[in-house]
Amino acid sequence: MEHRQLGRSGLRVSLLSFGAMTIGESQGFMKGVTSTEGEARRVLDRALDAGMDTIDTANVYSEGNSEELLGRWLEGKRDRVTLATKCRFPTSGLGARVAPHDQGLSRKAILRACEASLRRLRTDHVDLYQVHMQDRSVPIEETLEALTGLVRAGKVLYVGCSNYAGYRLVESLWAADRRHLVPFASIQMQWSLAAREGERELVPAARAFGLGILAWSPLARGFLSGKYRRGAPPPEGSRLSVWQDTWKMFDNDRCWRVLDAVEAVAGRIGSTPSAVSLAWLVGRPELSSVIVGARTVAQLEENLQALTVKLAPEDVAELDRASTPDWGYPQNFIGAREPW
Ligand SMILES: NC(=O)c1ccc[n+]([C@@H]2O[C@H](COP(=O)([O-])OP(=O)(O)OC[C@H]3O[C@@H](n4cnc5c(N)ncnc54)[C@H](OP(=O)(O)O)[C@@H]3O)[C@@H](O)[C@H]2O)c1
Repeated sequence: MEHRQLGRSGLRVSLLSFGAMTIGESQGFMKGVTSTEGEARRVLDRALDAGMDTIDTANVYSEGNSEELLGRWLEGKRDRVTLATKCRFPTSGLGARVAPHDQGLSRKAILRACEASLRRLRTDHVDLYQVHMQDRSVPIEETLEALTGLVRAGKVLYVGCSNYAGYRLVESLWAADRRHLVPFASIQMQWSLAAREGERELVPAARAFGLGILAWSPLARGFLSGKYRRGAPPPEGSRLSVWQDTWKMFDNDRCWRVLDAVEAVAGRIGSTPSAVSLAWLVGRPELSSVIVGARTVAQLEENLQALTVKLAPEDVAELDRASTPDWGYPQNFIGAREPW
């Protein structure tokens, strides 16, 4: 397994990392789309065995049960794993009634969330602590000071962010520089052939300021695996049969055209749509790690094939052409003259 440097930081992450959102029993937004504990353990064992030693979770996944399960599984393996988790959303779930400091990026909320994650994960530190989404109600400096305190205390080795607007990300980097605080090493963002909007602002910012990129939902929640068919309802038991709103996001001409191109390339090179879609991301120089979602060992095995897929320049060009969204203003204006 190749390892890539996380931006300008010293942390090395596996090119494919394991996304732990699908483990742990959930009564919240992941209800009905996670694996059993037995299957989760088999998937985790196989992932580590294949060299996917970077694992991404969050306090909010399965209301803390993802971290709990990981904590149990990590026993005796902690030193072999680069562990990433997140704070910002309430552990009790996105729709739950919460106390003021059970969520957000205030100093108090961050310290409480971190202590609770360390307890669930049964570890004294996480390697990468990420804020799950920006919080405009809290001064950037307060968030960065709290995160820096965790680094100084040895509870967190690196800090990163996820789901930030471009301006807020850059403002955070400036604030860290001005105040001599620990800067974000990475941005975790939605990135796949079906969701390329992060290329407007976040990818150029990461390139310009030396941040690592971790791509989430690289198969568009499974849409790019090819198991969904145009004009047919999502197969029983699949994530998009449960997540109806997300299904509506992808069940449109543009996304079906992207899938047509993925299947054409996969057919030509004798691979699968999942492996081709992940290989397209792997080929992006700005990418540090693809956070692979796999509910079963069979899915993981298929997704691991991305590492051996060789996309020719004409394959990449075909995938790029089919998946390029309307960038809008000002990217279209600038892009007509030079890369933005
Ligand atoms: N920072 C954030 O806001 C954020 C948001 C989302 C995710 N993430 C991170 O990104 C990770 C991956 O996200 P994701 O789970 O949405 O990734 P994804 O790769 O887009 O979707 C994974 C799902 O697709 C299906 N699938 C995967 N491989 C398949 C295959 N080979 N054949 C058929 N179906 C397949 C499975 O769902 P079914 O079998 O249930 O259909 C699986 O649970 C998460 O675990 C989490 O760590 C972060």
